[in-house]
Amino acid sequence: MVAFRNNPPGSGEFPVDPGLVYLNHAAVAPWPVRTRDAVAAFAAENTRSGAAYYPRWLQVEQRLRRQLAWLVNAPSPDDIALLKNTSEGISLVAAGLPWQAGDNLVISNREFPSNRMAWEALAARGVQVRVADLGSDDPEAAVCALLDDRTRVLAISAVQFGDGLRLDLARLGRACRANGTLFCVDAIQQVGALAFDVQAIHADFAIADGHKWMLGPEGVALFYANPAARDQLALTQFGWHMVEHPGDYSRTEWTPAASARRFEAGSPNMLGIHALSASLSLFEETGMASVEAAVLANADFLARETSSLPGWTLLSRRDAHYRSGIVTVKHASGRHAEIFRLLRDEGMVCAERGDGIRLSPHFWNERSTLERAVALLEKAGRNFPW
Ligand SMILES: Cc1ncc(COP(=O)(O)O)c(C=O)c1O
Repeated sequence: MVAFRNNPPGSGEFPVDPGLVYLNHAAVAPWPVRTRDAVAAFAAENTRSGAAYYPRWLQVEQRLRRQLAWLVNAPSPDDIALLKNTSEGISLVAAGLPWQAGDNLVISNREFPSNRMAWEALAARGVQVRVADLGSDDPEAAVCALLDDRTRVLAISAVQFGDGLRLDLARLGRACRANGTLFCVDAIQQVGALAFDVQAIHADFAIADGHKWMLGPEGVALFYANPAARDQLALTQFGWHMVEHPGDYSRTEWTPAASARRFEAGSPNMLGIHALSASLSLFEETGMASVEAAVLANADFLARETSSLPGWTLLSRRDAHYRSGIVTVKHASGRHAEIFRLLRDEGMVCAERGDGIRLSPHFWNERSTLERAVALLEKAGRNFPW
């Protein structure tokens, strides 16, 4: 696969301020032009004709479910719910399962707070949280070693937010299947950056907000739940939209939708839906194989070039399947908060995470942007002797 150098696909869609070095897709991404246009068109339609053409909006909603099903290879768009964010999806699984005192679940020691807190909140129900240390050579083995006959869920990120460690999800999914454990994947740092296949990895649940690698707005999230797994969740929110016959407001009897729509209580976020659908059309045109190749090539370049700078070392694994779109580097001075501020003042959009500076390029980033980032890190590091 050829890596894209100066004119990556989609680069014309990102007229980002040339004063910025935008490498922060693991936090919040800039929107493509088509997404801005879709939002502007939706706003214009709302002021001109309100919801007079609501049936068309419903078509966009259905299209988004199909796009998301395509993106994660879900068997059906019916397996996709549109939630507010990743935290909501994780909470819905944690709160909805039929826990018994003495049950346990497994997470890792590097999870984003949302994928720890929702599970820790189950302590009141007598559920034990087991924490796998991902620091060993074989982190998947450390995770699997914690599964036993009372492990109801393995809840883990596909790619860790701090250092970008990507796990072999198929291996974890197979272990869950063999153990009768549900597999709940926080996929926000993978979907849109790297190919993701819920069937190949035997995921029961997969959750990802749209504002990072999917290049959409905040506030619309993918929630994948396979039919058997979603039947195990008690519903915790209720409203007109989640039933088999939404819109039939005179019915007093109701049953939850058979599809994952049962997790969507009320009115959908139509603005966000229009935006995310537009963003995902860019992935459909580009193809996930090309996106993944370019993301990895960009991250490889940053990993190689930054780790050879004086004072800088790489915190992210780049071997085997462990590499992702996230590259985190550490400066020997340890003064990352100050370095981060210097970088920000120079127009670099990145993050201070995982005990270092986190860079997260997407497929559309140009090589010249990556080179500027390397030069800025070099310059910032020189201010802090070690
Ligand atoms: C791995 C991971 N999970 C969850 C979240 C939070 O996502 P949301 O705001 O969609 O709840 C983040 C945000 O950075 C994250 O990196």
